[in-house]
Amino acid sequence: MILYREDDYNAMSLRAASIIARELKSNPALTMCLATGETPEQTYRILGNMCKAGDANFSKAATFNLDEYVGLDYGANSYRTYMKNLLFDHVNIRPENTHIPRGNSPDTALECLRYDRLLDSCQSRDILLTGIGMNGHIGFNEPCSALDGRTHIARLSQGTRKANARFFDSIDQVPELAITMGFSDIFHFAKIVLIANGRKKAPIIRELVNSQKITTQNPSLLLKLHRDVTVIIDKEAAELL
Ligand code: F6R
Repeated sequence: MILYREDDYNAMSLRAASIIARELKSNPALTMCLATGETPEQTYRILGNMCKAGDANFSKAATFNLDEYVGLDYGANSYRTYMKNLLFDHVNIRPENTHIPRGNSPDTALECLRYDRLLDSCQSRDILLTGIGMNGHIGFNEPCSALDGRTHIARLSQGTRKANARFFDSIDQVPELAITMGFSDIFHFAKIVLIANGRKKAPIIRELVNSQKITTQNPSLLLKLHRDVTVIIDKEAAELL
């Protein structure tokens, strides 16, 4: 695991965006897996600017998103809308190359299978950008006694719903279920980049970096089994190291 401690959120974002831009340069047909949430917002803005400046070319790239809420239309809080607003509308990616689980599918179990089939059809899976939940969740793989390997329906923990309530009018509006890629899907990506910023992430980052044990009660610890993980944090998230 490579660890970069950056001065602030912007430097963290710049480091992550630069890694993605570098990978895109060496492999224009890059297959990426992307996260949503507050953490990657600036990374996406920087990638949009890089694309406008001719420093990143998404024309042959493909993206898969880690997760999507169940039951939301493509309205303000769906991850489809988030990705469109923050990244897809600002880079030259082909819309048909952007994949996000359809959380509004009438048959979510079938949707999980469809997403897995799409993932399985990739020639390669190159780089995955992820945030981390305060409880160590990756995607919506929440702490539990056993983790699912493939794309599945996840029940959001109360803590996660509370944390994500900031994007909604109230916690009652935060969906209870999401479709998320599982750890087998995540591990198929050759390179994993995890970003975290802010004091509230310091305890989980301390556990991720320092723990010698691996437990599904903190799913992020599974990343220690992957051979190419880069963790990029700002000063505040590094505070307890
Ligand atoms: C979202 C996702 C989540 C977030 C995590 C951190 O697609 O996969 O695991 O990465 O909840 O969220 P923020 O960045 O809002 O702190």
